[in-house]
Amino acid sequence: AEARPLQFPIPANVYAETVLSVKHYTDRLFSFRITRPQSLRFRSGEFVMIGLPNAEKPVYRAYSVASPAWDEELEFFSIKVPDGPLTSELQKIQVGDTVIMRQKSTGTLVVDALTPAKRLFMISTGTGIAPFASLLRDPDTYEKFDQLILTHTCRHNAELIYGQELVAALESDPLIGELTTGRVTLYNSTTREESARMGRITALIGSGKFYSDLGIEKLNPETDRVMICGSMHMLKDVKELAESLGFQEGSLSHPSSFVVERAFVG
Ligand code: A2P
Repeated sequence: AEARPLQFPIPANVYAETVLSVKHYTDRLFSFRITRPQSLRFRSGEFVMIGLPNAEKPVYRAYSVASPAWDEELEFFSIKVPDGPLTSELQKIQVGDTVIMRQKSTGTLVVDALTPAKRLFMISTGTGIAPFASLLRDPDTYEKFDQLILTHTCRHNAELIYGQELVAALESDPLIGELTTGRVTLYNSTTREESARMGRITALIGSGKFYSDLGIEKLNPETDRVMICGSMHMLKDVKELAESLGFQEGSLSHPSSFVVERAFVG
């Protein structure tokens, strides 16, 4: 596709990157990859601020980088909001278009905010899976934890495809495939469409079905760590669940047993 002309100059101190691919999953979800600025450093699991050069003062939104820190491209997984200030336009991007990005990355869903443990549980809903797509492709994650359990809950089946493809591709990845073999479990469910497994993750954990389905020991702060990413309500409920099981929130300055981050929503 031919690049569409920019309507406005690129603001000072932002990266201007080129769209390399776009994949639409549903009328609500798409992923895209862009070139990576040479000087960008980030930790797997962090987010950056993304915008379009389509206004004098562009609108920026937080996007978790879905690709790992070693990747020479940047991947993002986005919702489409019909009248969202950014996503209503971002969903139209095509190969060759320009996406702008602020130069700083940040975020709490990083392995350095957790102490080492046997199992890492990554609990996500919707586009909250994005930072885990980064972490699951980073060798550092496998260095710190033996077993990685990714949960992904969405309203509809088609919204689970991104995560299914992500996990299915891990073992054949030339760089990290061998490291991941037999160590990653995907546990997904839908809440508003019939599927093999239905229900919110909080309900599935609460009822014990989560443990019996996987044949695993209950969540235990002695052996486990938890990362949480999803909507505001989901974060609150899963955080309360983790705290009720004895988990404590960690940070880079005080690593502990769980961390939380709100997924991009508009
Ligand atoms: P539900 O359909 O029962 O609301 P959304 O698209 O609204 O961000 O939701 C993504 C998924 O997160 C949906 O399956 C939704 O279930 C689920 N969800 C929403 N709120 C919570 C919550 N408080 N705890 C656990 N899961 C939630």
